[in-house]
Amino acid sequence: MNIADRSFILRGEIAYSENENEIKTVSGGYLVCEDGICRGVYESIPEKYAALPVYNYAKQLIVPGMTDLHTHAPQYSFRGIGMDAELLEWLNTYTFPEESLYSDIEYARKAYNYFAEDLRRSFTTRAVVFATIHNEATIELMNMLENTGVVTYVGKVNMDRNGGVNLEEKSAEDSIKATVEWLDAIEGKYENTYPILTPRFIPSCSDELMAEIGKLAESRNLRIQSHLSENKSEIAWAKELVPKATSYANAYELFNNMGTPIRPTIMAHCVYSDEEEIDILKKHGAFIAHCADSNMNLTSGIAPVRKFLDAGLNVGLATDVAAGSSMNMLKTMLITLQASKMYYRLVDTDVKQLTFEEVFFLATLGGGRYFGNVGTFKDGYEFDAIIIDDSKMFSARDMSIRERIERMCYNDADVIIMDKFVKGRQVYGKI
Ligand code: GUN
Ligand code: FE
Repeated sequence: MNIADRSFILRGEIAYSENENEIKTVSGGYLVCEDGICRGVYESIPEKYAALPVYNYAKQLIVPGMTDLHTHAPQYSFRGIGMDAELLEWLNTYTFPEESLYSDIEYARKAYNYFAEDLRRSFTTRAVVFATIHNEATIELMNMLENTGVVTYVGKVNMDRNGGVNLEEKSAEDSIKATVEWLDAIEGKYENTYPILTPRFIPSCSDELMAEIGKLAESRNLRIQSHLSENKSEIAWAKELVPKATSYANAYELFNNMGTPIRPTIMAHCVYSDEEEIDILKKHGAFIAHCADSNMNLTSGIAPVRKFLDAGLNVGLATDVAAGSSMNMLKTMLITLQASKMYYRLVDTDVKQLTFEEVFFLATLGGGRYFGNVGTFKDGYEFDAIIIDDSKMFSARDMSIRERIERMCYNDADVIIMDKFVKGRQVYGKI
């Protein structure tokens, strides 16, 4: 359908999270959008919205847009290959050589165009993205993402050590100078594309650089994203590099990189985060970006998401391309479920596997909360929605809405995105 206004009603088979443990479904429901804000789901059209145009999606599914809390745009070019190494070898062999190519703006333009177009067509309505150390290419990426209509945070990466000759800023001072230039160049330029400070991880950033990033975050009121406790060799290295820290998370905390509840830091992975790290993440209101596909591919391990939820931490899901092999959030949901089942079976039977309800919540509202009132269809939430046609998933059985969204997560072979809305604006339409 072609919907130009930001006030309308969609009719269809609607599903959204009521809370972590409950998915609400309404068959033939009416989903109201007023000026880009969701006004709730109804069995019949409320009197006060009677004048709004109604678009009837009949038997198609309508679900909230999904949030990808952590992905790397420059790594999209080698998604799905080079999975034969663990993190540190993988970075040196595949990742850093690829990212060094983004000093060439022509290459960056071509590569980022593919990334942006795939993101536009995906289940993702909000994303938090790493670029590279290169300002020009990062700005080009932000221009393209702004055009997708997807709301994003994008980070020019900071790295002043261990990147090799081609992917290393000369000093902390140079790195900060480039960061400030980047921030100044994009100031006021975008509606839906925000900058985020991006110290890659402790092995890539000197103490001085980390401390300066902490100061910049505070003085410019910026958020931070990074990686935490992904791989055992990485953790051991971080400990050597910041010996005074009591944990990897504490190393970020020492340099004021852990943020605050109003400008929360995103930490990707947290596979090996123990009680101390959980306490630190909680204290700062940080978000954990759970990257199940990536953690399988790089043989990193399984993050104990159930423990994070029990501790009341903010958790969302993330593709982490290219350690994760695609931008597909359904696949990310599936691997999250499977990984949690194996954690329960093989690691700790006291840590129960995640339910489908919980994983649907994490993909929509869990990560969406990083962006404010985002990720469900309750009154007052920003209107991000995906319309899905699964009519080619032939089955002799009649399926409930709940069964159809579970099925599309476990088997997305014939699942087609028909339309996608972000803040009430249609950003993608199949026809
Ligand atoms: N840690 C530091 N950089 C990276 C990266 O690019 N991908 C992953 N998965 N982990 C990292
Ligand atoms: Fe990552």
